[in-house]
Amino acid sequence: MSNTRIYGNLINGEWRVSRDNPPIEVSSPVDGSLVGRLSSMSQEELDLAAASAKAAQKSWAAYPVYRKAELMYRAAQLLEERVEELSDCLTMEIAKDKKSAVSEIKRSADLLRYTADVGKSLQGEAIFGDSFPGGSRDKMSCVTRTPMGTVLAISPFNYPINLAISKIGPALMGGNTVILKPATQGAVSALKMVECMQQAGLPAGALNTVTGLGSVIGDAITGHKDVDFINFTGSTEVGEHISQLVSMTPVILELGGKDAAIVLPDADLDFAADNIVEGAYSYSGQRCTAVKRILVVDKVADALIEKLKARIESLKVGDPREEGVTVTPLVSEKSADFVESLMNRALKQGARLVTGGRREGNLIYPALLDRVTTDMDLAWVEPFGPVLPVVRVQSEDEAVEIANRSEYGLQSSVFTNNLNRAFSIAARLEVGTVQINNKPERGPDNFPFLGVKSSGMGTQGVRYSIESMTRPKAVTINLAGG
Ligand code: NAP
Ligand code: G3P
Repeated sequence: MSNTRIYGNLINGEWRVSRDNPPIEVSSPVDGSLVGRLSSMSQEELDLAAASAKAAQKSWAAYPVYRKAELMYRAAQLLEERVEELSDCLTMEIAKDKKSAVSEIKRSADLLRYTADVGKSLQGEAIFGDSFPGGSRDKMSCVTRTPMGTVLAISPFNYPINLAISKIGPALMGGNTVILKPATQGAVSALKMVECMQQAGLPAGALNTVTGLGSVIGDAITGHKDVDFINFTGSTEVGEHISQLVSMTPVILELGGKDAAIVLPDADLDFAADNIVEGAYSYSGQRCTAVKRILVVDKVADALIEKLKARIESLKVGDPREEGVTVTPLVSEKSADFVESLMNRALKQGARLVTGGRREGNLIYPALLDRVTTDMDLAWVEPFGPVLPVVRVQSEDEAVEIANRSEYGLQSSVFTNNLNRAFSIAARLEVGTVQINNKPERGPDNFPFLGVKSSGMGTQGVRYSIESMTRPKAVTINLAGG
């Protein structure tokens, strides 16, 4: 059944529907039904949201940290109480399978609780001058962390709740106020999550939201004079645009990836195949940390491909509302067109289709392409869909060289039974995280999560996120003649 409700925005503690522009319709990639309608905010309304966050910041920062933590706990509980409704919304709005949708919500509740605990435990420190050569015993510095001010959190479509919460929770615990700009496809789910945060008792202005197409309102909100910090997750293209536009505003950018799974001859191939298939095709490959290429040493390539093929063909494909489905329709027709054309170009250039690739609407059957070579775009471009290229290499050195030739540097996996070799390869890989004998993945959420090169800048992960969105403040005591 279609939902014709217009979702307003939370500004200064009240939900306001935009009166200035016609609403944006969000339709389901599952069946085309209307998921909801969003306010397309005007400049004046964006100004109100930014002013609300700015006005509330000092009093929110002054809230005792234990009370901030209590609010996080309450919001986590409310999220869990609404898990059925929220997961259904995710399923219809972004075609995420029900199991992954439920897991996204539970993970977000856990993250809020953990963030509250970390926030409570962060203490300042005292540093003594005479610990530095020539420094004086009369000097002592009290170092505390102070908020950045107003954080603009911009989240992508693929984790509308979790990738918003993982910014909002640490920003708030650090004493910042927040403006959330959710992805348009995903905004209905995100706004329902914000309702939980509000119902938990956040004071007016601590959390505000803005909606509208990024291409329309993006520059106005990222360049807004009242925004002090931007925490962005999304494509490299938009991330680069923002960083060029805002130049002096500090940013965290979590961007695209082309994560490699390097498979060495001594690897347990069944184990590697299980991990690669889960890593590449869950949520149809629409994860920044999806396995996006395999670099396998030639002498075990045939054996690995046979194992991959069997597993891929047993994946359930179709409607995300059905039990056990892994590969679901892509988020938009444009995405499906892009993935299909990338795959077809590689096939025309001589890659071999091992399995999959059939298209029905936005649904693409999980595809594996062998004999992809480095002159094909598929070896380098992020498809954000269920298409996985196999690049055969002659040695581990060649695997590392090709892995590092990518513009991206999010994560890499190394499958081998030789831990010494794994560590030596890990040291040479130009990525934020190397996974030894595991698929790439963000988390557990207290681990540092970062990309290098075109995969981003700055570090997330609960404590790292709080630290990234606060700055040290030193008050130095100078005693007379001690
Ligand atoms: P996207 O198109 O870059 O959009 C991300 C967010 O930016 C959305 O909220 C979007 O709003 C907004 N936006 C678009 N143009 C903007 C502008 N000019 N100024 C400010 N904001 C703007 O990315 P996506 O399609 O949602 O997500 C897929 C991409 O994100 C992939 O490349 C993936 O690898 C990457 N990703 C990275 C990570 C990571 O942690 N490294 C995690 C998840 C996803 P609208 O929706 O209204 O356009
Ligand atoms: O694409 C979102 C990125 O953050 C991946 O998270 O948990 O699926 O590895 P995860």
